Amino acid sequence: MIKKIYSLMLLFLATGLGISACFSARSPSSQATSAQSDAANGEEIYFSGIDQSGNRIRYTGGPNFGGMMMGSYLTCAACHGPDAHGGVHVMHMQVMDAPPIYYDALIAMKAEDTGTTPQPGGYSLQDFRMEVVDGKDVGGETLDTDMPRWQMSDKDLEAIFAFLKTITE
Ligand code: HEC
Repeated sequence: MIKKIYSLMLLFLATGLGISACFSARSPSSQATSAQSDAANGEEIYFSGIDQSGNRIRYTGGPNFGGMMMGSYLTCAACHGPDAHGGVHVMHMQVMDAPPIYYDALIAMKAEDTGTTPQPGGYSLQDFRMEVVDGKDVGGETLDTDMPRWQMSDKDLEAIFAFLKTITE
């Protein structure tokens, strides 16, 4: 799986927008349950930045690369990593430090932000929306502008959330 993901990343780097064509060529499994297909859709959005209607998800903010990002687009995977484990990496000669965002990590960070003990299931879709769309962490603090603000439908948000739930440590 990881290997496949890395080759997708390489493909993305090599061909830029070509990845959307690659994704749409993959036929969805008709037997998938809705939770599974949500997660599969979410995985595609996480890596491609393209929503379920085939449109690029719009965002504002994000790091200022001095104009160097013109013509290219950010995806969740570009900053939070192919396995959603985050990490520090150099992006267009700037240091980018993105936190892990797989489900258990989100629960742990919420507990930290609110000074409570981590609870199973203790991070909701509403929490996720507040962070990803509104740019506020669950403690109400404004997130760093390195994290873009995403104009995303509830359907797409739910799909990415379902995907992040499938990743464990
Ligand atoms: C350009 C880099 C970048 C991209 C692209 C990006 N993020 Fe982030 N994200 C960050 C950084 C940096 C933070 C930490 C912000 C802070 O702590 O103030 C963050 C924080 C978050 C958080 C909050 C984590 C927490 O609990 O504190 C969530 C959730 C998140 N990102 C989800 C996403 C999703 C989903 C996408 C894709 C739709 C995405 N991010 C794309 C850089 C990015």
